[in-house]
Amino acid sequence: MTHSSVAAVILAAGKGSRMKSDLPKVLHPLAGRPMVRHVLDAVAKLNPSRVAVVVGPGMENVAAAVAPVPAVVQTKQLGTADAVRAAFGVLKGFEGDVIVLYGDTPLITPETMMKMVERQWEGDNPAVVVLGFRPADPGAYGRLIVNPAGGLEKIVEHLDASASERKVGLCNAGLMVFDGKRMFELLDHVDCNNAKGEYYLTDAVGLARARGYACAVVEAPEAEVMGVNCRAELAEAEKLIQQRLRRAAMDNGATLTDPDTVYFSPDTKLGRDVVVGPSVVFGPGVTVADRVEIKAFCHLEGATVAEGATIGPYARLRPGAEIGPGAHVGNFVEIKNGKLAQGAKVNHLTYIGDATIGAKANVGAGTITCNYDGFSKSRTEIGAGAFIGSNSSLVAPVKIGDGAIVGAGSVVVKDVEADALTVARGRQQNYDGWAARFRASKKK
Ligand code: UD1
Ligand code: CA
Repeated sequence: MTHSSVAAVILAAGKGSRMKSDLPKVLHPLAGRPMVRHVLDAVAKLNPSRVAVVVGPGMENVAAAVAPVPAVVQTKQLGTADAVRAAFGVLKGFEGDVIVLYGDTPLITPETMMKMVERQWEGDNPAVVVLGFRPADPGAYGRLIVNPAGGLEKIVEHLDASASERKVGLCNAGLMVFDGKRMFELLDHVDCNNAKGEYYLTDAVGLARARGYACAVVEAPEAEVMGVNCRAELAEAEKLIQQRLRRAAMDNGATLTDPDTVYFSPDTKLGRDVVVGPSVVFGPGVTVADRVEIKAFCHLEGATVAEGATIGPYARLRPGAEIGPGAHVGNFVEIKNGKLAQGAKVNHLTYIGDATIGAKANVGAGTITCNYDGFSKSRTEIGAGAFIGSNSSLVAPVKIGDGAIVGAGSVVVKDVEADALTVARGRQQNYDGWAARFRASKKK
């Protein structure tokens, strides 16, 4: 059996006033990524043939965040049905299944969406499939009124519900799948005769039933459909999304010693038998290969770590850090746009910026690559097998040849040949007996 294609409309025109923010609600990040992008990422798994995001006037930043998905402007916020109508231009002539989602319900999974679409394909061919859930506290959610056979009869908004309807525990999560052939007709008939004076999308169900079309409910767990309306709910959603990401990392073969303290980005990639200690943060764009150990209290973003490397404790890998196989990056080491070849060691208290470090080179404690002169960045190249003595400053641009040794405490401003020794510091002078004479002179 072949099925029609899917289109998606994401409603995000609300200002989200309860966030008390200058940023539109759907741009607040979860796991470092704007909420609305999570919805788009989930929708993308369904390979939709058309997608539109409905935004309010002046929400150019939302339009920019969702690009290349088109943003359509709902001029006035007259309700959720009006918002979907704003996307009619994008949906014109579409006859497949139309999924309507809310931009502030970011934890929805593609699996649940697929279940709803598949329900739409069943024999009774419902005009509308609604996602239901049973919240611990049904509060102000719309209630789903179901007939004895399990079919959906109507949705009543909390404000418009009778006392007995308010006792219904099955609530509207907000996600709906419409049969595209019947959606335009249904939404054209939605009016605003209700407590809020808004055009409710939820009225489409009653209108469908009045025409004899079936409507259906698919249920989802509360954790997947929670809406984010305030900062406390944002924090709650962050907790849930991190739990998911931790679980996925472990299911893929990583050990997290104390999972609750490890923070991921949606795009973090960990290989097999990676071990991550407590309190590690993965910002965007991190890829870690097999058998890497990341010890406690590390912060990584935009970094790649090759097989068998050891990172931390207390290391910071910034964008452009590329750690080679078996390399070691130790405590209080920061690496930015720096490449460590196989087996290189940078173990203590070091800044590596705009640099390459050759295979098996050893960078001593307290080494600094001085990559910035206040105007531009320059590169440091350290050859394979080189040894940089502790507390050296390498003033870029500068090259240290293969196998060269830099004496401890050097300030290196000139290139060093392969296998040479360079010592660039004040020469040591010893004065025998000086200290004793000094103390004696002070006692008088
Ligand atoms: C809506 C549902 C309710 C459901 C609840 C789940 C309706 C009428 N009610 O109520 O049954 O239980 O969600 O969270 O749909 N929006 C626009 N343009 C508008 C109005 C809203 O784009 O004119 C967007 C908002 O930005 C938001 C979404 O639609 O993303 C939902 O709107 P909201 O006003 O929050 O609806 P609820 O009252 O929460
Ligand atoms: Ca809401």
